[in-house]
Amino acid sequence: MMNDVDDLSSTTPGASSGNVDPCAELRGKRILLGVTGGIAAYKAAELTRLLLKSGARVQVVMTGAAMRFVTPVTFQALSGEPVCTDLWDAGVGNNMAHINLSRDADAILVAPASADFLAKAAHGLADDLLSTLVLARECPLLAAPAMNRQMWENPATQRNAQSLRADGVELLGPACGEQACGESGAGRMLEAQEILEALIAFFQPKVLAKKKLLITAGPTFEAIDPVRGITNLSSGKMGYALARAASEAGAEVTLVSGPTALAAPPGVLRIDVVSAAQMYEEVMRRAQDSEIFIAVAAVADYRPAHPASEKLKKDEREGVPPLIELQLNPDILAEVAALPRPPFCVGFAAESRNLAEYAARKREAKKIPLIVGNLIQDGLGGENNALTLFDAAGAHPLPPGPKIALARALVAHIAKLLS
Ligand code: PMT
Repeated sequence: MMNDVDDLSSTTPGASSGNVDPCAELRGKRILLGVTGGIAAYKAAELTRLLLKSGARVQVVMTGAAMRFVTPVTFQALSGEPVCTDLWDAGVGNNMAHINLSRDADAILVAPASADFLAKAAHGLADDLLSTLVLARECPLLAAPAMNRQMWENPATQRNAQSLRADGVELLGPACGEQACGESGAGRMLEAQEILEALIAFFQPKVLAKKKLLITAGPTFEAIDPVRGITNLSSGKMGYALARAASEAGAEVTLVSGPTALAAPPGVLRIDVVSAAQMYEEVMRRAQDSEIFIAVAAVADYRPAHPASEKLKKDEREGVPPLIELQLNPDILAEVAALPRPPFCVGFAAESRNLAEYAARKREAKKIPLIVGNLIQDGLGGENNALTLFDAAGAHPLPPGPKIALARALVAHIAKLLS
């Protein structure tokens, strides 16, 4: 039974103890990083650094071809561990480096993964340390392909990629774009940061697997004339963090976003809108088909009733300040909650004071099961926030932290309420 005020700090990664870095999203994970022969091997050095920064322990294994591009010294210096390169290393006590290494990992990540490596892994070939430990693995395998576009598009490589996916191997990318050989197309390795985020997502519990989830995020912009309008300071970061956390948890996420400078999280379908009226249209079109609706957007309550089609001129008004007549916008969240078969609705309330009182009032007025309160001084615009969740069982404060960590805790709470 929950108390009136129930502290959910244990569900917030890194938030339960003051001396833990909440951004260390791979804390305690042992990652075996396989590096194969390709020009993108240099990017694996940056990836090693990012993995370590995220709290992972990294053991690098290089193929002979990889060592033609980058030396093991680079990876040893970065990871702080000797790099393994030899299946026949006499220095390994039981002479079974392939077994020891694969048993010691939470995941094997191969980046870059050459066409040759994919072919070997798809066919179960084991003729060097990396391919042998991959065959002997008991842990998940993720691979970031990197090769010339023709090599990637070759039917043989496509068959191998398909077999690997069917075997449960997670292929990350490849990306499209300019290649080291001067050609352009699909085959570039994802950037190190993208690979890191995909690995973090891979480890998140799939508590919303296959759920259809609709989110609004960012501000709206209500036109006064073609160049001016009414908007607010929402950056979209909280809503985008939630979209990412929900997608990591296995949900099919559609993000209806007001104007922001942010990129959509991987795997999230983003619909761009400008005004509250457009946001309303896009949300209502999809709401009945969604299982969960989270309204994070800072939607303008009013819009100019008669936006001018030409730019308003100061001199035409002879010094009289213009009066802008306002008209009420639809309350998107309240209308979704009032549908005959509404999705599970989650609202947000940003207040500058009296958070508990105002948030509880909004939850009742909009007739929704869960509202998330935050103070604008904590959450508007920045990377961090502090949330309190208000539901039928009472108030559940989450400790302050990065928006992505809070978003994951909120996703866990929603999943708990749904189950
Ligand atoms: O974007 P960031 O910089 O990361 O900042 C995040 C945030 C502070 C904007 C976010 O965490 C937040 O609190 N969003 C809700 C803002 C707010 O207070 O909205 P409100 O009180 O006007 O509305 C309450 C709820 O109704 C919200 O879920 C809102 O999306 C929804 N609403 C409001 C008006 C309207 N016409 N339609 C709506 O759906």
